[in-house]
Amino acid sequence: MSQIDYDELSFDDEDEMKFPRPEVQGFDQVVERAVSRRGFLGGALAFGSGAAVMGAGLLNGTSALATQASRFAFDQLAPQTDGTVHVPAGYAWDVLVRWGDPLFSDAPAFDSDAGVPTEGSDRVFGENTDGMELFHQRGTELLVVNSEYVNPKINLPAEQEGKPVSLDDVTRLQNFQGVTVMEVAEGDAGWEVVVDSPYNRRIHHRTPMAIDGPAAGHDLLKTAADPTGTQSLGTFNNCGSGRTPWGTYLTCEENFNGYFGTSEEPALDAVHADGFKRYGVSTKVDPGRYNYHGFDPRFDISQNPNEPHRAGYIVEIDPWNPDATPVKHTALGRFKHENAAYALAPGGQVVVYMGDDERGEYMYKWVSRDVYVPGGDTSTLLSEGQLHVAKFNDDGTGTWLALTPEDTGMAEAEIAIFTRMAGTAVSATTMDRPEWIAVNPTVVEGYCCLTNNSRRGALDDDGNVRTNAAGEPMIPNAPNPREINRYGQIVRWRPHNDDHAASTFDWDLYVMAGNPTVHTDGLYAGTANINAGNMFNSPDGMQFDSSGLLWIQTDGDDDNEGDFLGMGNNQMLAGDPVTGEIRRFLTGPNGSEVTGLTWSADRRTMFVGIQHPAAPFPDGEGALPRSSIVTVKRADNALVG
Ligand code: FEO
Ligand code: CA
Ligand code: CA
Repeated sequence: MSQIDYDELSFDDEDEMKFPRPEVQGFDQVVERAVSRRGFLGGALAFGSGAAVMGAGLLNGTSALATQASRFAFDQLAPQTDGTVHVPAGYAWDVLVRWGDPLFSDAPAFDSDAGVPTEGSDRVFGENTDGMELFHQRGTELLVVNSEYVNPKINLPAEQEGKPVSLDDVTRLQNFQGVTVMEVAEGDAGWEVVVDSPYNRRIHHRTPMAIDGPAAGHDLLKTAADPTGTQSLGTFNNCGSGRTPWGTYLTCEENFNGYFGTSEEPALDAVHADGFKRYGVSTKVDPGRYNYHGFDPRFDISQNPNEPHRAGYIVEIDPWNPDATPVKHTALGRFKHENAAYALAPGGQVVVYMGDDERGEYMYKWVSRDVYVPGGDTSTLLSEGQLHVAKFNDDGTGTWLALTPEDTGMAEAEIAIFTRMAGTAVSATTMDRPEWIAVNPTVVEGYCCLTNNSRRGALDDDGNVRTNAAGEPMIPNAPNPREINRYGQIVRWRPHNDDHAASTFDWDLYVMAGNPTVHTDGLYAGTANINAGNMFNSPDGMQFDSSGLLWIQTDGDDDNEGDFLGMGNNQMLAGDPVTGEIRRFLTGPNGSEVTGLTWSADRRTMFVGIQHPAAPFPDGEGALPRSSIVTVKRADNALVG
């Protein structure tokens, strides 16, 4: 068995290990590349309201923030380093649900030492909570939540040290992931899951899915179990979320590659070999992080080489119909999908913005062929449309490049399956790991978290700039201007003609995170809206509230040392898009990522996800750490979003 401790290994580091690119020789050998900010500063100056901040002085220390009155209804929370959740004075938090809590009264009870047995593990709330959305109808509120991945060390008997030894173990891990639909209600004792609600449902790694769009039925999607290439089992690594205007949930398949492996050296044609390389599907004989392939041949690429082509999509789920088959929409492309943020264009088309969270990959936009008509047939709206990829220019403008057969040299189905290659074919801009995208409900603009990229601008042994998986050098560029980007930034774009379907846009950086107390000037100090009081790193989750405030969640280094001194645990902050001001609102327990945010129907409760705490949160000393969703309310029960 492998000696690799996957619990200590990020998905990116895992890919790097399996697909090594030349090593950096050392920080002192990294070339200090000149970064011309003149271009996008110029663009920012012409950008509008937010440009007051950026245009007055992009870099920290060169200007004060605009002096408009604060829109925040709370005082900034200080950074925290302990094992629990904190919120500002005047607010209170409570636990709604923890991994392993029952959705049905016949589910097994959670054991604080052993967790949940396999039998019934598909009847409890899943692990590693991530993206979520709340839906409401006639007084009923449904919370739909992703369970991104599992921590095998705390899901399997301790003596196995996180290694599955049977199909039963694999089944347990599969059951803890996917999506949970659950009814929630607020009573005198606060919010609770409505156990046995007819809406409660677990969708996991074996749940039947339908496949539609250009890749459906293609030879590359056919398997022995599904010779039609239109039906698959399971949705994988459900990271961020999205919703549609017609009230369905979108779950986004991110690091799907990690579930596949091989029991023997696979004999692959060039299409499969190139695809696995670009998407990080391992062809080495190794148990990997989960070792599904050791016990379930569906995940063994030497036996089922097309199975990985059936993952990596946006999946639509109808939360109100527990019998509805989720649909994988291949029209929206295949990559490591972070989330899916929709907008409606003036012409009625549905626009979906999406990021591919990998170093040096791209940002995408999809525009539906048909228009959305409230109350009309929406069943095929996400099946036909045009995928685009983002090209950022140094002058503060950008273009959404259409991924067409003419421009990519690929067939429509190939663009849907090997979307990354299509982006490379049209020379899309390499980004610093696009995470969540959020669309401002009050102004026609979008925001994307570019979480970090430690290899941007770094050199390999031969003195060449390191590349993405396509072999493109990750040279600093205007929206990703920093070498060895440890802190991350948020890029913002404003579509031309106030039309999210437009093919051109203006852009600027809403914020570059940084540490102005460690780096007193230069790019690592961050932008002017970062100060000693509100520092953070690695922006990841992001949602707008209905008033147009931008809520930012982090998944970064919480050592609180060195470059990260003074930032504390991962956190959630609120940003004002107009003034640029950013203020810390919530901190998570140490070791955790704060990810997933939605609101109750009455907007008096926020639901916030706490993923993979290291501390024994929330049950206390001696108990297993449990990913949880917490509620946050104001003491006076006023609106919180
Ligand atoms: Fe699952 Fe990129 O976060
Ligand atoms: Ca994320
Ligand atoms: Ca992340």
